[in-house]
Amino acid sequence: MQIENSYKKIFEENKKWVEKKKDENPYFFAHLAEEQNPDYLYIGCSDSRVHANEIMGLAPGEVFVHRNIANMVVNSDLNILSVINYAVEHLHVKYIIVCGHYGCGGVKAAMKPRNLGILNPWLRNVRDVYRLHEDELDAITDMESRYDRLVELNVYEQCLNVIKIAEVQKSYLEKGYPRVAGWVYGLKDGILHDLQIDFKKELNRVQKIYDLTKEE
Ligand code: CO
Repeated sequence: MQIENSYKKIFEENKKWVEKKKDENPYFFAHLAEEQNPDYLYIGCSDSRVHANEIMGLAPGEVFVHRNIANMVVNSDLNILSVINYAVEHLHVKYIIVCGHYGCGGVKAAMKPRNLGILNPWLRNVRDVYRLHEDELDAITDMESRYDRLVELNVYEQCLNVIKIAEVQKSYLEKGYPRVAGWVYGLKDGILHDLQIDFKKELNRVQKIYDLTKEE
């Protein structure tokens, strides 16, 4: 019963929200319907506690969003590749942000070597991050700190995965954007942490092996 009531309430709340927005600005929906012009592409975790617009303080129309378990950028995932392509080539976003969060269930699951059925191939991408940074992570004896560090390193590796994409490299070469940034959100305090990834340095490093701006 409770869930049915809360389901019904969604539509009641929606009507109230529409009225409130129209009161504030009668053209709110008319303007939004015309076009979107976001400067940011946000790639985050599906976790219900991490809401892109809200934590960034941005209104509808200001951020293009993609979310999946553990904020992954996987080379064979047509979904995220399409999102990035559209954001770069059609929306001309200025920043692509990969935002992880401390307390991420996907990252935690990947830290335990267990069979998790259909989740195995997805989580393997996080496990691969662990393997890449095995020495650093294994040297952290406190398990909570090791978990936090894997969350950060996972964001870093996903930023590199964004930088490996041809459209991103070509757009940056031609126009000077998008830049790529890595953030971690703290569930316990609501604070966003910028990992201060040096975009130009990482781009140069990535392009040593994955320079896709040149034709054959
Ligand atoms: Co998560």
